[in-house]
Formats: sequence, C-alpha cells, structure tokens
Amino acid sequence: MKTILVTGGLGYIGSHTVVELLQNNFHVIIVDDMSNSEKFILDNIEKVAGKRPVFFPFDLKRKELLYQVFEAYEIDGCINFAAFKAVGESQEKPLDYYENNLFSLINILQEFKARNISNFIFSSSCTVYGQADQQPIDENTPLKMPESSYGKTKQMGEEILKDFATAYKKKVSLLRYFNPIGSHPTALLGELPIGVPNNLVPYVTQTASGIREKLSIWGNDYDTPDGTAVRDYVYVVDLAKAHVKALQKLMAENSDTVIDIYNLGTGKGSSVLEVVESFERANEVKVPYQICERRAGDITIAYANADKAERELGWKAETSLDEALRTTWEWQKYLESRK
Ligand code: UD1
Repeated sequence: MKTILVTGGLGYIGSHTVVELLQNNFHVIIVDDMSNSEKFILDNIEKVAGKRPVFFPFDLKRKELLYQVFEAYEIDGCINFAAFKAVGESQEKPLDYYENNLFSLINILQEFKARNISNFIFSSSCTVYGQADQQPIDENTPLKMPESSYGKTKQMGEEILKDFATAYKKKVSLLRYFNPIGSHPTALLGELPIGVPNNLVPYVTQTASGIREKLSIWGNDYDTPDGTAVRDYVYVVDLAKAHVKALQKLMAENSDTVIDIYNLGTGKGSSVLEVVESFERANEVKVPYQICERRAGDITIAYANADKAERELGWKAETSLDEALRTTWEWQKYLESRK
C-alpha cells in the first residue's frame, strides 16, 4: 500500500481527494494547520471512506515537525493543497501569501530531495493563464502573470516544481483547476467559507439560505452572451478523482523526470446568471440578486479544453452544473443542522 502525504487534507478540495485516495487503497497522512477547516471534517472523512487517515495539525513552515513526519513514515508521494487562497486578501498581505504558500512548498520539496522521494502533485489554478486570448484554454495557451499575489504564488509554485523535477529527476504533476464547486454526495464534506464568501457559489448558497440578503453580480456589461462573466465550474468530486488518476500515472511512469500539466475543467463555460438560474432550478429556491459594478481584477471569460486530461489520465468531468449545485445546497442544510 502506498503512503501519500496530503497537505491541506482537511480543506475543501483536499478532504474530497483524501476520500478518493482512501477508497483507492492509499494510506493517507494529512498535515493541515486548521487555518481553514474544522476537526469534524476529519471525522466525516472517516464516515464517508470507512477509514481514518493519520492526521497532524501543524503549519508546514515548521520544518522540524515536517521532518518528524518524514522520519516516521515511508512516504511515496505528496498532494499539496495547503495554501492561502483569498485573492483580495493576498493583495493586502502579499508577504504572508508568498511566505505561506512558497516556504511550505519548498520545505516539502527539501524532504523529497533529501530522501529521494518522487511523485508530487501541485494544486495550480487557471489563474496562471490570466485573460487568455482564445477560448477554450488548453495547456499550451501562453501564461500571463496573474494580477494577484495569490495567483503569483501559483505561477511561482509551478516554476519551482519544474526546476525541482528537472534538477533532481523527479516526477511532478501540475493540476490547473478551473472553478471548483459542489459538495460530497453524502453532504458530509464541502466548502467551509470563513466570513463573507468571496467566491460565487458559496455566496449564492448563503443568499439562498438567508444568511446574505442579496447576491451582488459583479458586472453585466461583459462581452458575453448575457453580459455576465463566464467560468468553467467543475464538480469537486470529479476534481478529486483527477488527483488519484494523476498520481497513479506518475507512479507508473518509468522515466526519471516527468512534468505533467493538466487543465481540469468541464470544457463548458457558464455565466454568473446561468449559475444563479441553475441553483434555483436544481434546489427550487430563490436567489435574490442585484447587478453591481465589475469587480477589480476579474476576467471576462475562462473555460477549459480538458482533452489532455481525458487522453492521458482517462479523466473527464461528469457531473452537471445542476447536480453539483444540488449537492452544495444539501451541504448548506447539513451545516445548518449542526448549529
Ligand atoms: C477566483 C480567482 C482565482 C482563484 C479562484 C479560487 C480572481 C480574479 N480569480 O476565481 O484566481 O483560483 O477564485 O476559487 O479573483 N461573482 C459575482 N458575485 C460574487 C462572487 C463572484 O458576481 O459575489 C462572479 C465573479 O465576478 C466571477 C464569477 O462570479 O465572474 C466567479 O467568481 P469566483 O467564484 O470568485 O471565481 P473567479 O473569480 O473565477
């Protein structure tokens, strides 16, 4: 049985991926500093997967603690989710973002190098493409330096990993997520937004449940069919499955150095208004909204060409927008039932 270190394994995408790993017979060790999660997520992972992963609550910048984990376990690979991810906050606290997202990454890579471990999966983002000149976006689309410090940590993380793989003959996979949404079908796992959500779907959900009065739609004068911005919303469980496939591929590779890059999206763009309509239709609830000015830094349109992931990983996003948004609403009801 292979042992995989999952950093940020109690977070949104991390927790769903841990379940998929456990269900595929991997031994999982989570390191998570709990800055964006809660302990019940660990219990719920166990309820869903029927197995409890090993868990260490600490910050990956604490090298001496990380060293002890690597001393205690024979680790075969890592999926690195641990990172700060709030775009607006990253503009106010850029040093915190560079320090947290990049130092923790480098600390793990130093252990990989010292112990001759390969197989590293990095959570990247479609933010590395900025506003691409063409849609859909495939992996050969030129990168543009993101505006936010958060986005820059993703692009820098990719560069660090490419150099790491090349210099030390390692296998890495850079997974560029489009917009992850939805919750586990059991309603036991999902996103835990802290404070006022920045992202669309958590805000829509909280508006539908009355926590927020109205959704603000940031702009309806974009050059898109209905004037609202278009994104590629991919279901989090589909996304989690892609990690297992990317890991299995890396582990099966014979060559020393591998740098895999995959776009993970559905290949379909949906506008903000389409997301609102889909949520209302899937859950038979109303989402009051108002049209506001554009949000600074937002792009007009981004959706994936994910053919490479289908070709090389045998992965395809399968879940519809309606279905993904239905799971989100079930998760919201679950959260409210816990209060
Ligand atoms: C954002 C980040 C991206 C990051 C991702 C993480 C930017 C420019 N991009 O993506 O780097 O990887 O989050 O999840 O910030 N919207 C509203 N009202 C709201 C919230 C959002 O109209 O209350 C609109 C936005 O203007 C956008 C769409 O919904 O058009 C999606 O927004 P969001 O969920 O924040 O994701 P992105 O901005 O695409």
